[in-house]
Amino acid sequence: MTADTAAGARTGPHAPDPAARRDLAVRAAVRQGLVGPGEADEPLVCLLDTAGIRASAAALTAAFAAALPPGTPVLHAFAVKACPLVPVLRLLDGAGLGCEVASAGELALARAAGVSPGRTVLDSPAKTTAELREALALGIAVNIDNRQELARVDALIAAAPGPVRSPVGLRINPQTGAGSIGALSTATTTSKFGFALRDEGAREWLVRACVERPWLTRLHTHSGSQGVPLPLIAEGVRTVHALAEEINAAAGRRRIDTVDIGGGLPVNFASDETDPTYAAYVAALRAAAPGLFDGSYGLVTEFGRSLTAKHGLVIARVEYTKTTGARPIALTHAGVQLATRTVYAPAVWPVRVLAYDGRGLPKDGEPRAQDIAGPACFAGDLLAEARRLPPLAPGDLIAVPDTGAYFFTAHYGYNSLPRPAVHGFTVEDGGGVRFALARPGQPLSAIVTEAGGRERDALL
Ligand SMILES: Cc1ncc(COP(=O)(O)O)c(C=O)c1O
Repeated sequence: MTADTAAGARTGPHAPDPAARRDLAVRAAVRQGLVGPGEADEPLVCLLDTAGIRASAAALTAAFAAALPPGTPVLHAFAVKACPLVPVLRLLDGAGLGCEVASAGELALARAAGVSPGRTVLDSPAKTTAELREALALGIAVNIDNRQELARVDALIAAAPGPVRSPVGLRINPQTGAGSIGALSTATTTSKFGFALRDEGAREWLVRACVERPWLTRLHTHSGSQGVPLPLIAEGVRTVHALAEEINAAAGRRRIDTVDIGGGLPVNFASDETDPTYAAYVAALRAAAPGLFDGSYGLVTEFGRSLTAKHGLVIARVEYTKTTGARPIALTHAGVQLATRTVYAPAVWPVRVLAYDGRGLPKDGEPRAQDIAGPACFAGDLLAEARRLPPLAPGDLIAVPDTGAYFFTAHYGYNSLPRPAVHGFTVEDGGGVRFALARPGQPLSAIVTEAGGRERDALL
């Protein structure tokens, strides 16, 4: 860890707000050599505001704790796909959260972070038999996606030497409809996820399937990620709670004891405001399904984006500027490799871009419309088009906030652009900034190895 005291930092008992922390971090990142304007400097770095992540985890925990009777079992399982970095999972584990994993790789990360099987949930629509066997042997919670997977689990449980240790549930698609982003909407009539609830005969089949299997104790639902409005998420949860009640009535006992309500709280990418909040989410859910909050069910949540998105920052050098067809363009080192969704679907995933000078100080100057381009070799590699910013010049820096989920941790290997380093940062009393390396930058030698460098002659 290294420390730096940035000029102009606010001192005293009041900690700087996220935007002030961001400015301090950009300045300190330049001063401490994490990124910079010169030939010998790194052109690109990614940062995570650890205080921000902690604050989001605390807000999530507090919102549910305030709404549930004391002692109600709750597991907040972080959706690893949102930020698959072992130190982040470790930080969240320390904050009392578990992990939701959707692949063998994500499970390996959770285990490497020390997250216990009892605080891990396995989803994914395409679990292999080996993955299911391992999860059941470890006592990891499993949410079954479809009838064929249920048959596999039936067989594994029948062959197991002892009773089932894992909580096992069924993922229900309430078929309540899509949000504004079709690709991320999982509760549509034809979604690939889960047991469709409203298909003909499905409800009766599901009730019977649960009644017949004493080890099926959970229902799971997740209506989608980003773009799904709170009322639609709440309607999905209400629907699944009603199904749990129906199953329990049919079983004559509390067969379903836990509802896993998934994640999906949308994130505001337009400003620094956190909107909606976890408190608003809980209020919407409580209004829709009050019985879920009376303590008769344990709860599992699987939030991803809302826990880390607002705490990530990409800082990239402006390498060149030019004007083409009267269009000013800044050529930077941040593009499709870090903001893949933004580049391919800019209308759906717009990002903010902030301008700093080569010392890491916010730039001023009369804003003018500029394209912010990335380094990749295709014309569409743009973070923003005609974005009004102070005039950028070579050696300036741009910063892209809100990139802490599904952006720089979901690297896209186009043009063999390396994965940049990720540092966590903490602003101390007095404005000093401490950085801690959370993921090293990918060396070119690793790119060569991953591209078959050791198999050079294999195809001769
Ligand atoms: C089953 C499941 N749970 C949780 C999540 C996390 O969603 P979000 O990051 O929007 O909170 C996802 C996202 O794809 C998911 O598929």
